[in-house]
Amino acid sequence: MEAIAFFNFHLMPHIAIISASVRRGRNSHRVALFFKKFIGENNLGSAEILDLNEYQFPVFNERLRFEPNPSEKVLDFAGRIRAADGVIIVTPEYNGGYPAALKNVVDLFYYVFFLKFIAIATVSDGVFGGTQVITSIQFSLWKIRAWTVPAMFPVPSAPTAFDEEGNPADKAGIEKRARNFVNELLWCIEAVNRMK
Ligand SMILES: Cc1cc2nc3c(=O)[nH]c(=O)nc-3n(C[C@H](O)[C@H](O)[C@H](O)COP(=O)(O)O)c2cc1C
Repeated sequence: MEAIAFFNFHLMPHIAIISASVRRGRNSHRVALFFKKFIGENNLGSAEILDLNEYQFPVFNERLRFEPNPSEKVLDFAGRIRAADGVIIVTPEYNGGYPAALKNVVDLFYYVFFLKFIAIATVSDGVFGGTQVITSIQFSLWKIRAWTVPAMFPVPSAPTAFDEEGNPADKAGIEKRARNFVNELLWCIEAVNRMK
């Protein structure tokens, strides 16, 4: 089988993967699991999943910088985003938008994402792969001055496209798309590091 070609990056970046669905029986977490494995197995860097279902942040009531006693969980999440060279957000599409749990994070941590490269993977159980959610999440990320990577990774028919461990049914096809998607994120990370 053809080896996956990547740009010759100099860095081994650390990627934080935000898994944005907190729904019981969620499918998009499978895609987050896939990216973690994909980055590790292809030696592209290190990756960790920040699972919003584990963090269970309460409904937003103030931004982190104005919070006198932020919880350990809040500080943990902020520290992991700060330490990451880039971020992948895996989000489902809910009624044409992104989930409340993700909006919570955008508002709570807004300055933590400042100048952070973010690539967005969208997920649905239908045929459109959650592509309609991209405009709302990109707009919000632009407002908080994150740098969104233009590459898209729409996942249609998520329950059959990936198993519960994040293994794709069409391994070759998914990995080809993932390569282009991750390449673009890594290119941005390397470009900014060369400027430093
Ligand atoms: C509240 C809600 C709204 C949804 N709205 C949409 C939608 O607008 N477009 C779409 O393609 N799928 C929609 N779906 C289906 C999701 O694509 C589906 O749940 C998919 O598995 C991704 O979300 P999950 O990670 O929570 O499973 C919706 C699902 C829920 C629970």
